[in-house]
Amino acid sequence: MSVACLTSLSRCGVLASRSPAGLVAVRYAQTAAAPAAQPRIKKFQIYRWDPDTPGDKPRMQTYDIDLNTCGPMVLDALIKIKNEMDSTLTFRRSCREGICGSCAMNINGGNTLACLNKIDTNISKPSKIYPLPHMYVVKDLVPDMSNFYAQYKSIEPYLKKKDDSKEGKEQYLQTVEDRQKLDGLYECILCACCSTSCPSYWWNGDKYLGPAVLMQAYRWMIDSRDEFTEERLSKLQDPFSLYRCHTIMNCTKTCPKGLNPGKAIAEIKKMMATYKEKQAAAV
Ligand code: SF4
Ligand code: SF4
Ligand code: FES
Repeated sequence: MSVACLTSLSRCGVLASRSPAGLVAVRYAQTAAAPAAQPRIKKFQIYRWDPDTPGDKPRMQTYDIDLNTCGPMVLDALIKIKNEMDSTLTFRRSCREGICGSCAMNINGGNTLACLNKIDTNISKPSKIYPLPHMYVVKDLVPDMSNFYAQYKSIEPYLKKKDDSKEGKEQYLQTVEDRQKLDGLYECILCACCSTSCPSYWWNGDKYLGPAVLMQAYRWMIDSRDEFTEERLSKLQDPFSLYRCHTIMNCTKTCPKGLNPGKAIAEIKKMMATYKEKQAAAV
């Protein structure tokens, strides 16, 4: 028997050994099959509502999942339900790695990303999953983000120059130190977990911009290349856009990316105080 043959035999689980009659192939002794794992059935109670079904009322629906046959994250459980049990279950997801922000929902009482949230393996306790709180619901776990995106648009989340004649012709450089000021701000994925955990946003979401959008407003205010800091501050002077924040800090506690929108809002308030003093002095 050739070496090549020996190699291939050993690869396919067969042992080659030498005997007086030459090389013979001897099968490995079969090991006893491992006993089947005990099923670990976990209940998932999920908010359901379909506006296209006349008369449908919001309700909780329970699904039983064997955790032995499911991935470790809540998004794995939702995908398993949709693929294997109930294709009508509706939720958003895309990247499954905490980058797109689309799987934000309320899981066991906290706003978070389903793809970054590990399933609680205590099978005696059901997991409860709702859409992000205090938002209009499109269907099941899908919230209507229209107001949130309109608010984001309102802060003009892009670089603004007084003289844009150089736009597209050369790079706008900044120092390493100035670039570092944006750390902890630019990483926001606009999932809205923070804004929808904020009591002020629950009650005044139409007029108060909320922590996610305010943090992005701050991100552009302190960008060394942007020349509209004062105009950006001026737009937030009314009693609602910024000042509905009462520093409760639910936003920072819940952010699945570990960011600190509460601090960013406090920094805007400091900048606003200086801006208002300057305005008053100019009168
Ligand atoms: S700190 Fe401000 S934005 Fe954050 S949860 Fe509290 S009130 Fe809302
Ligand atoms: S600050 Fe955090 S919780 Fe808020 S939108 Fe950005 S990533 Fe989401
Ligand atoms: S699927 Fe993209 S953040 Fe969860």
